Amino acid sequence: MSEFPKNFLWGAAISNVQSEGGYLDDGKGLNVYDTLVVEPEIGTTTVYSSTDVASDHYHRYVEDIGYMGEMGMKACRFSIVWSRIHPNGNESQPNQKGLEFYDKMISEFKANGVEPVVSLVHFDMPDYLSKKYNGFLNKEVIDLYVEHVRTVVEYFKGKVKYWITYNEINTAAWGDYLVSGSKKPENMSEDEYFSQLTVNVAIAHAKAVMTIKNIDPIAKVSGMTTHSPVYSSSSKPQDVFEADLVSRFNYYLPLDIMYFGVLPHYFLQYMKNKNVNIDLSDDEIKVIHESSAKLDYLAFSYYQSSAVEFSENKSGKYSFTNSSKVRNTYLKANEWGWQIDPLGLRIALNNLYDRYKKPLFIVENGIGIDDQLVDGKVYDDARIEYYSKHIENINDAMSKDGVEVMGYLAWAPFDFLSSHKEMRKRYGFLYVNRTRDDLKDLNRFKKKSFYWYKRVIESNGQNLSIEIDY
Ligand code: BG6
Repeated sequence: MSEFPKNFLWGAAISNVQSEGGYLDDGKGLNVYDTLVVEPEIGTTTVYSSTDVASDHYHRYVEDIGYMGEMGMKACRFSIVWSRIHPNGNESQPNQKGLEFYDKMISEFKANGVEPVVSLVHFDMPDYLSKKYNGFLNKEVIDLYVEHVRTVVEYFKGKVKYWITYNEINTAAWGDYLVSGSKKPENMSEDEYFSQLTVNVAIAHAKAVMTIKNIDPIAKVSGMTTHSPVYSSSSKPQDVFEADLVSRFNYYLPLDIMYFGVLPHYFLQYMKNKNVNIDLSDDEIKVIHESSAKLDYLAFSYYQSSAVEFSENKSGKYSFTNSSKVRNTYLKANEWGWQIDPLGLRIALNNLYDRYKKPLFIVENGIGIDDQLVDGKVYDDARIEYYSKHIENINDAMSKDGVEVMGYLAWAPFDFLSSHKEMRKRYGFLYVNRTRDDLKDLNRFKKKSFYWYKRVIESNGQNLSIEIDY
């Protein structure tokens, strides 16, 4: 195993909207995650929790961050909940108590030697903006978002070095309401909706980048997507062709816009083929272009790879592909069908570095498990194995392939509600003692992986052995 750089940012990441609870405390407004009516993940019969208490991180952040310090984490990515600062999203003055809360949180990180990495929107658009304007599909929301970004960045200038404009921006155009706050209007085709939303969130990102850099030129700014290599189910050329299309439209398109500063030719051609006209002004084209030169690094989440095959009766609604998603028989999966592919992370790192040539920051990677607390202990060996293999592949990408990686943030420091509000699907190094409808005592218990990751950080990634006393 080669050495990781001395300043490698080992740490973890959380989404505050999924963990804070305190959901109407101190002036916070409802957001799209609070009001989301959850659809079960395909093939599961999961049950859902309300967001009122979540992991109670709002009241226990000191304890939670203390544990991160104890693990020796160098960085933690968290999100400033939009509706805690601008409860409805259109106020002229921010909610001071909201700003103060994150100020205290940032001080706590610093006191524990943990560098804050802040996401500016992570499933937390004020519900009002979604209901009144239909989220980012409406350009007025872009301006309100930019005002929100201005408030936050001005307030935290000098305290936050790393900013991420928009969590998993590529999933906005997949039609994910949680990400864009939008729903497809009836008079719009899927192609129009996909295209306009892709462009609108890119404008929002671009304006956010310019805003951050104008306020704090030395801040480090990144866009962020979820990335997944898309494999062809076979070597049949038609399967390969479709895998490439899905990969481009689902994963590279937003990155190409953000990092190259133009709408790529394949996207323009697709809109032409489908007779889609989008609303995009010259000034917006300019800001997209200008902002691309200001990006410092490329942040992404990685959980799994995917596989597709050509199909006459394709599944999924997008007209850019004639494919269906298939199970990769070479890979195992967790209970929710997420396929485990550590080498896929090395592939992703190589692809992203080749294409964009920016330092890469893995800001989410982890596995959801229905962990069991027995006599105060959680033996989460499957999580340890997952992390160990993924970190090994990062090391290979860096030492054997020459990819530049700034850091690795595991998902997550402690358990919280999944994006589908599922408490049973746990990700943390700390077990949070509650179930879906029994809040119990919400106490934290160190899982076996807590000690394992602590040792990984202490050894700067050199000791990945899965054996550890517990
Ligand atoms: C990412 C999100 O998509 O995946 C997180 O940024 C989310 O917010 C994570 O929690 C894991 O997905 P899920 O659906 O299991 O929570």
